[in-house]
Amino acid sequence: MVKKTARSGITLLTTNLIVKAIQKNDFLSRLDDEQIAMMVDLLMSSNYKPSEEVIKEGSEGDSMYIVAAGELIVTQSGRDLRTLTKGDVFGELAILYNCKRTATVKAKTHVHLWRMERQTYRTIITNKSKKKREQLMGEVISFIRRMGKGEHFGDNQILRTATCTADGPVTCFSIDKE
Ligand code: CMP
Repeated sequence: MVKKTARSGITLLTTNLIVKAIQKNDFLSRLDDEQIAMMVDLLMSSNYKPSEEVIKEGSEGDSMYIVAAGELIVTQSGRDLRTLTKGDVFGELAILYNCKRTATVKAKTHVHLWRMERQTYRTIITNKSKKKREQLMGEVISFIRRMGKGEHFGDNQILRTATCTADGPVTCFSIDKE
């Protein structure tokens, strides 16, 4: 029996194929586990027939792809460059470098692909940067709060969210939770 993941309905075998493809690709391997999980959830499935063009050299790029099944040929100015098979990633260059498609990619056989749109990829990357920024801002705010005589701290936290450091000699009264 083929197991399915709870959220997306993608089979575990497919998830493994996608994760492996991401990890062996130079630029996608920089994604962390959380970003890879989001990517797996947001990929869309598409199919092509033999000799159908998936990418045209010189055109604008809006998606990148992972080969789920089948074979494709990469050509540049009419020259064969490479055959792509299951687990290969392609179409990433125009998305990453904001350039025109550097080569043509055509289906040799019936092909099943996992596709991610440029905007979805950008959202995954931007979300992570936004979270990082927010976390840094939190840390900065706690550093800039200075307390003096008569003020109290540490009163309402179960898990500590900030560090309080003595800046010079300090005497405190403490009282335990009970
Ligand atoms: P992109 O330029 O977005 O669209 C065409 C894709 O073909 C490109 O991304 C790469 O994924 C792939 N490609 C380009 N040049 C080569 C090459 N020399 N060998 C293999 N794949 C290539």
